[in-house]
Amino acid sequence: MDLALQTPRKRKLSQLLRSPWLRPLNDPDAWEQILGALNPMWSTRDFPARVLAIVEQTADSRTFVLQPGRRWPGHRAGQHVVVEVEIDGRRLHRSFSLSAAPRADRTLEITVKRQPGARVSGWLHDSLRVGDMLRLSAPGGGFLTPDGDDPVLLLSAGSGITPVMAMLEEMHRRGNRSAAWCSCMPVARRRISSLRAPAAARPRLAELQLQVHHSAQAGRFDAGALARWLPHYRDFQARTCGPRALVAEVEQLYRDAGVPQRIRSESYLGRVLPPSAANDLAHRVHCSKTEQVFTASARSSLLGEAEAAGLRPAHGCRIGICKTCQCSKRSGTVENLRTGEISSEPDELIQLCISVARSPLELVL
Ligand code: FES
Repeated sequence: MDLALQTPRKRKLSQLLRSPWLRPLNDPDAWEQILGALNPMWSTRDFPARVLAIVEQTADSRTFVLQPGRRWPGHRAGQHVVVEVEIDGRRLHRSFSLSAAPRADRTLEITVKRQPGARVSGWLHDSLRVGDMLRLSAPGGGFLTPDGDDPVLLLSAGSGITPVMAMLEEMHRRGNRSAAWCSCMPVARRRISSLRAPAAARPRLAELQLQVHHSAQAGRFDAGALARWLPHYRDFQARTCGPRALVAEVEQLYRDAGVPQRIRSESYLGRVLPPSAANDLAHRVHCSKTEQVFTASARSSLLGEAEAAGLRPAHGCRIGICKTCQCSKRSGTVENLRTGEISSEPDELIQLCISVARSPLELVL
């Protein structure tokens, strides 16, 4: 409220609360640090979790078994969390699917593949130990196991396998579901060991059809291959998770079959910006609410560039799903990394985590 509109008493109180001496009391970060020092499982902002176990899945994939505190709100198979880690004094956030269904002991799992050159997955593999703490967001996302008794088709490719592992576990527990699961991966030796789960699940998943597609030998899996393998696919509620191109093809297959409501998908960015002179250009980004300015290149998302400049825009998944990072762009040109669309419309909503600057920008941030 404008100080001029307040009574003298309220004005005095307001000025007192803004005093530099009391600033730590008004700083949520300071409160978080105090709570964390008293008990690492305490937080008002996010959900600390202790690492209970680390399981090697493949040479480059590990499952981290986590025990969250009592405030953990629970999750559903298929959802993801954003993990916050501090590396060299910088807080970095990455979204990971939860790779296990909700359990009675409330443990969670994330399965992380080491990505060449990626700081967070590399740090999780190299530095995180049993007993350490991780900070998690609340679970998010609407990519969920279907309710009802229809048969279910699970299609996963690459790291899209992680939410599907959780769904399979959930369906196994429910006990009366028939399902088909197609898992696409480059080569056999990279199979995550949890793929053994279907054998254990068979007695309860009465009809589980399993197809493992190795693209290095059999070529790229596409919608045609799916229709050949599972001719009655349209009778199945489909859940697909993988690169954008595959997911789009299978969605189109369901649209063409007249049953688009039977498919839900989640995709990750299958597109890497090609090195070009345009990507190296840095553009000025003006934030009209906070009057802050930062520079952004087309090599990194606007969210990442804003954080690198010390801003803290609201965000969740960081992969273009939750829309927490959505903000209005007053002017300028951005590229959407999911769709490849380049847009210069004024006053349009953009998602910072999947947008890069292609010109100077003005954002309502
Ligand atoms: S952070 Fe979820 S859409 Fe950007």
